[in-house]
Amino acid sequence: MRDNNNDNNKKIAEVFVDVEAHRFTADIIRRHSTNRADVRAVALDGLNLTQCKDILELGCGFGFFTEALKGRVHADAVITGVDIVPGYESSYLKVCETAGIKGRFTSTGVSVVKDYRDRSFDLVICSYCLYFFPEIVPDIARVLRKGGLLVTTVHNKENMSELMNFAKDVFVRGGIANNEIKLPIESFIRSFSSENGYGILSHWFEDIHKTHYGNTLVFKPGDIYSLIEYFRFKWPFFLTTVTDDVEAVFDLFEMQLQQYFTRGRTDFIITKDDTIFVCSKPFNRRRKK
Ligand SMILES: C[S@@+](CC[C@H](N)C(=O)[O-])C[C@H]1O[C@@H](n2cnc3c(N)ncnc32)[C@H](O)[C@@H]1O
Repeated sequence: MRDNNNDNNKKIAEVFVDVEAHRFTADIIRRHSTNRADVRAVALDGLNLTQCKDILELGCGFGFFTEALKGRVHADAVITGVDIVPGYESSYLKVCETAGIKGRFTSTGVSVVKDYRDRSFDLVICSYCLYFFPEIVPDIARVLRKGGLLVTTVHNKENMSELMNFAKDVFVRGGIANNEIKLPIESFIRSFSSENGYGILSHWFEDIHKTHYGNTLVFKPGDIYSLIEYFRFKWPFFLTTVTDDVEAVFDLFEMQLQQYFTRGRTDFIITKDDTIFVCSKPFNRRRKK
C-alpha cells in the first residue's frame, strides 16, 4: 500500500477498511436523503460515453460510481479501480462484472496515476474522494486523451456541519475539547469542495460544467440508531485529534442525541449538498518534477 504511509491516509484507511460498514452507511445516506434523484444518474445523464474504452475510477471503494456506467460506455471498455483499501477488490470486481465492464483493481493508492502514460484514458470518474487527494488533479488531466472527460462529485464545505457542530458540542460538554477545536473532517472536505473545486480544476481543464445537487439527510426521533451508526462509521474523521477513548465518546454522543430527541421531538437534519463537475479539454501539461 504505497500511499498509506502518512497520518491522513491512516485516518482514511481506518474509516474505509470496514467494507460492509461502508455499504451499510451508503444505505443509511440513501434512505435518509430528501433528494430522491440518484446523484450518479444526475452526473452521467446527457453525457455520451459510448466511445469510452479506457476508464479509471479513483477512490473506487466498492464500486458505487462504476455501477452507474452500466450500458453507458463502449462494449470493450476496461475500467481500473484505484483505492487504498485492498478489501474492496472482490466487491469492486463483482460490480464491474454486473455493469458488464472488464474490471481491474489496485490498492496502491492514487499515486499510481503518476506512473500512467500521458493521454491513456477516455474517462476518469471519482465520487466523493477528490478532497483526499486534490494534488492528483494535474495528473488526471495529463492521463486523459484530448476528448477525455473527468466526472467528479464533491461536497459543499458546509456539508455535515450540523453533525460536526453537534459532535463538537458533545466534546466540549464532555470536557475533552474546547470551543476552538477543528475536526479532521473539516480540513478534508475543504481541501476540494464545491466552492474551491472550479478554481482548482480550471488550471487543468478548459471546459468545466458545474451542477448543484442539493440534499439533506433527515433523521426522525425513531432513527436515532441509524444516526449513531453513521457517526460511528466516520469516527476517525471526527475523533482522532480529540481523544483515544472512542467508546466513551460514543456513549456521550448517544446520551446527548437522546436528550436532543426527547427535548425537542424534532428531526435531526444534516446538510448534504454536493456538486458534480464534468471537465473536458484537459490541458495535458506535464507535471513539473
Ligand atoms: C467517501 S469514499 C467514496 C467511495 C466511492 N467513490 C463511492 O462513491 O462510494 C472515499 C474512498 O476514497 C478512498 N481513498 C482515500 N484516499 C485514497 C488514496 N490516496 N488513493 C486511493 N483511494 C483513496 C477511500 O478508501 C474510500 O474508498
